Amino acid sequence: MNSLLLAANTAGYTTPQLWRVLTKTGYFIGLSGAIGLTVTYATTVRPALRSAEKAAGSDTGPGADAAVLRSRSATSLAWAGVVLLVAGYFQLAARVARSGKGMPFGDALSPARIRDFLQAPAAKGAWIAQGTVYLLQNLVLLATAAALTALFVPAVRRHTDRVALAALPAALAVTLVAAVPTTAPADLDRWLDLAFDQTHIVSGTVWLGGLALLVALAGTRGRLGDGAGLLWADIWRRFSLVAMVCVGAVLVSGLWLSWKHVGAVSQLWTTGYGLALLVKVGLVLGLVTAGAVNQFWLMPRIARARRADDTASLRHLTLHHFPLVVWGEVVLGVAVLAVMPFIAGSARTEAGSAKAVSSGSLFAAGAALVVALAVSLYATAKASDALARRPAGVRAAA
Ligand code: HEM
Repeated sequence: MNSLLLAANTAGYTTPQLWRVLTKTGYFIGLSGAIGLTVTYATTVRPALRSAEKAAGSDTGPGADAAVLRSRSATSLAWAGVVLLVAGYFQLAARVARSGKGMPFGDALSPARIRDFLQAPAAKGAWIAQGTVYLLQNLVLLATAAALTALFVPAVRRHTDRVALAALPAALAVTLVAAVPTTAPADLDRWLDLAFDQTHIVSGTVWLGGLALLVALAGTRGRLGDGAGLLWADIWRRFSLVAMVCVGAVLVSGLWLSWKHVGAVSQLWTTGYGLALLVKVGLVLGLVTAGAVNQFWLMPRIARARRADDTASLRHLTLHHFPLVVWGEVVLGVAVLAVMPFIAGSARTEAGSAKAVSSGSLFAAGAALVVALAVSLYATAKASDALARRPAGVRAAA
């Protein structure tokens, strides 16, 4: 990565320090765990488990499989709480280090320094002190981590659904509270910066955290019954909708952020900021391609096996093939988060181009793009359905 950045005209680019890279990546891994796992549990896993349990008794095949998956979900959520807590502490120390010019990161880890930072008085014109905003954020983070880690306790695990649903809004608040501006945003662009930044964070973390939860759950396959493929087909079907919404939101918000900081396409390879962004977008394209393989290749095959009551194929596709692709996606996702701290500063500043100011034509182009993206995602879902309905003869030729 470093040599790649050095290849560009990086006079105005400062490579972030190692502690900054580790704390930023760690923080977003922590958020992916807390936000991604709770949202995916609520929107995908819980409804699929409930419908499997409704269709069967609690200790026959599907009911027993649901119990195994609920227990693994609880363990995953509990670990997400631990990761959030650790990542939150280091992220807070990183904020302290950045606030004191030249403060070594090691010094910023001290509770006394952190206390001073959180209690610093408000700046002139601010309606609230920045330290107070971070204090609130970290109290919410503590509460979220406490609720999630409580799932290690057997008595709490009996209420996994309730704990996960309560932790979901709290996990979202961890990022949203930190974004509360201490002075009124100067114009519409500043408001949009805040909105798109949070949209980017939430959709990106839901997508990556969701993938991570599902590979963790697929790891239980040795303990699941022969008929578990049916339950898993339902899980993948539900998650594919969540993932598609996240892809749309990540792309639209990512394009806004890119436009803010990159003044011309050539800045993608002539500036350090642009190069880091280019590497990240390449990794995201890998993720989108894997998602397309799932939509156009795996989902239709799963639907056909389901229709044909082919239990063995259904199990193989949903519990072997699918998790393999998703493992690849998780690796790419971690790489995206590892590259993200290098997208620092601004390509516009490096290249000396004008600051981004929105205009009517930018919003018109943005609206056209949103419509085009929505249409193509809708077409993807429809094409995937149509492939699923193909008769067996056509399938062999496909
Ligand atoms: C899996 C997909 C993605 C994930 C998980 C992700 C995640 C993130 C995160 C966590 C941040 C840091 C936000 C902050 O510190 O406030 C970020 C920043 C950024 N992302 Fe993404 N992102 C993804 C895809 C994309 C795509 C496709 C683009 C471009 C089209 C993009 C463009 C950007 C830009 C330009 C920034 C930097 C904003 C700045 O300099 O402040 N991202 N991303």
